[in-house]
Amino acid sequence: MVTQVKGGTVYIVGVGPGAPDLMTIRARRVINQADLIIYTGSLLGQEGFKDVKPTAKLVDSAGLHLGEIVALMREAARSGQVVARVHDGDPAIFGALSEQVAPLEEAGISFEVIPGVTSALAAAAALKVELTIPELSQAIILTRMEGRTPVPDGEMLRDLAKHRTTLILYLSIVLIDKVVAELKTAYPDDTPVAVVQRASCPDQKILHGTLADIAGQVKAAKMRAQALIMVGPVFKPDLRQTWEKKSRLYDKTFTHAFRRGGAEE
Ligand SMILES: C[S@@+](CC[C@H](N)C(=O)[O-])C[C@H]1O[C@@H](n2cnc3c(N)ncnc32)[C@H](O)[C@@H]1O
Repeated sequence: MVTQVKGGTVYIVGVGPGAPDLMTIRARRVINQADLIIYTGSLLGQEGFKDVKPTAKLVDSAGLHLGEIVALMREAARSGQVVARVHDGDPAIFGALSEQVAPLEEAGISFEVIPGVTSALAAAAALKVELTIPELSQAIILTRMEGRTPVPDGEMLRDLAKHRTTLILYLSIVLIDKVVAELKTAYPDDTPVAVVQRASCPDQKILHGTLADIAGQVKAAKMRAQALIMVGPVFKPDLRQTWEKKSRLYDKTFTHAFRRGGAEE
């Protein structure tokens, strides 16, 4: 728990999907007190760093390899500095968290992780969609299409597609043709698909389609980065008007720990 920002500590900070006001108060507090800020160059822009210490050193990690990033963090922490390693979204999701903190642990350097709003949730908010709808989808798969980074056995997209549940793909927009081909092995062609690019940013873009037409739309819009592919029945545009099933939580006949239900009228 971050009660007080401490020198000699590396903070792995999730800063959310891009909008500076979606950074947590804790993330902002650490960044504004950091001596060294290493950030992924992509989404946050300068606004996220406008209140940092005048002496803070800002380093874009885009051109650095793992060893260089770790060395920077280790040396600064050893000299008593506050280090913020900034990641977009949440660091636990496709954030290369493990490989960055393992050498710190080995070197006996203390570190803390600060969660952030992952882009999938910012995209769901942009779409105004609930990802878990009673009796339609009660599981969410967050994954990526296999590309240069392999995926483990049993996690190929065609395997995961068999669940036909809400499925959200990070890091896969350039592989849209392959994504669609894999998904079609299990989902029907008319399965709704939404694509959200730069969720929460001023230039956010949204596409609505189905497995039959989304690849064409993505290519026509020239989307090649910073986008999520969101698949499944919960993305059907008129779902709220057509799906009758409700959760038990607010059912007036349902008793739970905080409310005693009455008989149906
Ligand atoms: C290396 S991953 C990092 C994910 C990040 N840790 C998170 O929790 O959102 C980068 C991928 O996240 C997705 N992404 C990150 N920010 C996004 C945003 N604002 N809108 C849409 N997709 C985003 C894209 O799929 C992008 O290729």
